Amino acid sequence: MYEVILNLHSYLAYIVLALLFLTVANAILGLVGNKPFTLTKDFRMGLFTLILSHMQLLIGIVLYFVSPRFQLWGEMGGKVMGDSMARLYLVEHPFINILALVFITIGWSKHKKLMEANRKFKTFAIFYGIGLVLLLSRIPWSQWL
Ligand code: HEM
Repeated sequence: MYEVILNLHSYLAYIVLALLFLTVANAILGLVGNKPFTLTKDFRMGLFTLILSHMQLLIGIVLYFVSPRFQLWGEMGGKVMGDSMARLYLVEHPFINILALVFITIGWSKHKKLMEANRKFKTFAIFYGIGLVLLLSRIPWSQWL
């Protein structure tokens, strides 16, 4: 069960990060090129990225509790904060990634209320961009790649 969820979380991370990067790049190109905001491409890209990143969030929450790392809370208690690896997995990665998802979700709802293409692209570029930077900042790179 743990292995399956860890693999799912690990592979979905590639897709989520790639989609986020593409959505942000597409928004910057749309903004710079003064392009129209299309339902077929721009809206769908934002929505698809939103859905998959929320799936990753849910899988992450389940993984948190089934991972053997969770037992470190019992074994180390407050000392978790003093150990950089334990702190990354148990505190920083979950907390910062939930925050990243909050930015992405706010970006999605804000863009829906806007009418002008430029402002929609700008909203995606800023909020999804912040989300992407936050996620990249707390990936356990050494363990993952
Ligand atoms: C939504 C964006 C997220 C991304 C892109 C992401 C990405 C990753 C990656 C790449 C790994 C390393 C996987 C490996 O070693 O093969 C990982 C591990 C982990 N993630 Fe996430 N994660 C996200 C959200 C979350 C959230 C919200 C939580 C918990 C609330 C979480 C909990 C964990 C845990 C506990 C591990 C370590 C599992 C273990 O090694 O036993 N993740 N994550």
